[in-house]
Formats: sequence, structure tokens, C-alpha cells
Amino acid sequence: MDAALLPKAELHVHVEGTLEPELVVELAQRHGVALPTTDPAALRAARRFTDLQSFLDQYYEAAELLRTEQDFHDLMAAYLARAERAGVRRAEVFLDPQHHTERGVPLEAVFDGLSAAAAASPVSVDLVPCFLRHLGPDAALEALRTWLPHREHFVGVGLDSTEVGNPPAAYAPAYAVAAAEGLHRTAHVGEEGTAADVAEALDTLGIERLDHGNHCLDDGEVVARLRDTGTPLTVCPLSNVALRVVNALEDHPLPAMLAAGLQVSVNSDDPAYFGGYVDDNYRALRDVVGLTDDQLTALALASFDASFAEPAAKDAWRAEVRAAASAPLASPTAS
Ligand code: HPA
Ligand code: ZN
Repeated sequence: MDAALLPKAELHVHVEGTLEPELVVELAQRHGVALPTTDPAALRAARRFTDLQSFLDQYYEAAELLRTEQDFHDLMAAYLARAERAGVRRAEVFLDPQHHTERGVPLEAVFDGLSAAAAASPVSVDLVPCFLRHLGPDAALEALRTWLPHREHFVGVGLDSTEVGNPPAAYAPAYAVAAAEGLHRTAHVGEEGTAADVAEALDTLGIERLDHGNHCLDDGEVVARLRDTGTPLTVCPLSNVALRVVNALEDHPLPAMLAAGLQVSVNSDDPAYFGGYVDDNYRALRDVVGLTDDQLTALALASFDASFAEPAAKDAWRAEVRAAASAPLASPTAS
């Protein structure tokens, strides 16, 4: 079965990371911004990274082209059209509102544009704004206060950006407010950070999921804790290769995570930058890492298990996965 035919939830995708070079060119034209090149292929070729920060620098610069409600709408509409072709039934989409409001973009333009595109898509979508670590914990708390009047637009909060030097515990006050407001909580930890950072996030943030989490594997006690609490990890294989969190796809620790009994889902992170959407990540796991169709099916089921969607919707999507997995393979030569 092709990976795109497997119904799946995508739980770790940054909407700003779905900004394809073609849309960069269009937005630059729209706003009269000069680019070093207007050739999308050249822009794409320049998306090469040595670590998380080298990626973030490019990602934030390109995201400065997002200025109006229309821009945010067009970005989300393009992602969702591609996600639909990838078999995504449910998308929990991160955004970085602080990066936009600090440039003077009204929060309404961000939320209204993204939500309008989401409402027009057959994919079930919820938004998860993230606190930017590089702006610090006070800014996070202040940002959350400005987001809360727009509570109908989002279901949870996350934590992203520069991990090294910005440990999670400082964000506990913002996460406490989020919890009191009935928001879901997840955080990027253990991508470049350590197993101790993962433990600290579990101790202090009240998170329901862990984004990336790769370095938990360096400490058996942290792994056991994640396993025993059933805390899901949103893993992003192609991202991990592009940002050199792993040396090569062949060495990706996802099989080790499964063997350790961790709850894992497969996600694209920033697909316009890392060479593939979520179906491409599933395909890479099958073709390069050697996962079987049964393992990919289990990962698709796990993606719905870890979703913040309503239980009845999750049940229906899981039934769809089981039906897709048991359907006879279509013959490529059949008409
Ligand atoms: N890590 C941290 N911050 C991010 C990422 C990531 O993988 N993608 C977008 N912002
Ligand atoms: Zn991410």
C-alpha cells in the first residue's frame, strides 16, 4: 500500500515551515520585497542546514513575508491541500504568533487567516500556538495573555525555537496558566537538548505529548518514565536528518523507540524545508529504515491515539486505518 493511502494524523507540523519557495516568490511580489533570486529551485537549493539554529535563522526570515490575513490563509490552504493528498485526516498545526506580532502583524490576521483556510478543508484541523524560547519566559506569559481572547482559534500550546541554553522549567508559569485555561500542552524537548531536559519538562510543564524527544534514549530511566506514563512522542525523521539530530536516516532511532515501548507518531515538522511531507516520512521509514506495512499501520493508528481530537472522531479514523490496511492491494495494471 502506498503511504499516502494510509489515513493518518499529523501532530507536529509548523505552519511557517510549510512555506514553499513558490509561495515565497508570490508573497515577495505581493509585498514588493526584493529577493536574492525569484527562482524557486534556487531558493529550495539554499535550504541546507548544519543544525537547528541554522534552520531557524532561514525559517524566521522567510516567515517575515507573512503579513496579511490573506497570506496566512494562502499558507494554510496550500499545506492542507498537500496534507490531504498525504492521507492526513487530522492536523494539529503549530504556529509562532510571537514572531508575527513582534513585527506588527495583528494577531487577528494570523488566527483569522489560518482558521478560514482550515474551515474550508476536509481535513480536521486545530491550531497550537507555540512559545518562542529565544524570547524568554516572561514574553511567553505575556503572549499567552494576548492569545486567550482568541481562545476559539486554538486547542493547546507548545514550546519551540532554540532549545540549547533555554531549558524548559522557566516556562512552567505559562504552562500553568494554559492548564488552568483547559488548553492542551506539548513541548519541543530532546531534539538538541538532553534526556535531563526531557525529565525536566515532564517534571515542570504538565505536558501531554513530547515533540521530538529523541535524546530521551540516552537515559533508560527517562525512557521508562515515558513508557510507563504512555507519553506520546511526535517524531520527525526527515527533519532529524536535515538538522543533523541523526547522522543518517538508516540510523534513525524510531525502531529503537518502538522496541522500548514508546508511543510514537510520524510527522513532517517543517516539510517545505526538510524535503518531504508526512507521507514522504512514512515512505522513507519503509524504504530506508525497513519498517513493514504492519509497522506503518501501527504508527498511523498511534497518530490518532496521540491526537487531541474528540474520542469519537479518533475511533472513526482508526477504523478507517484498519479498513485501508486490510483492503486488497490495487494492481498497478488494473484499469
Ligand atoms: N525545533 C524547534 N523549533 C522549531 C522547529 C524545530 O524542529 N521547527 C520550527 N520551529
Ligand atoms: Zn517542530
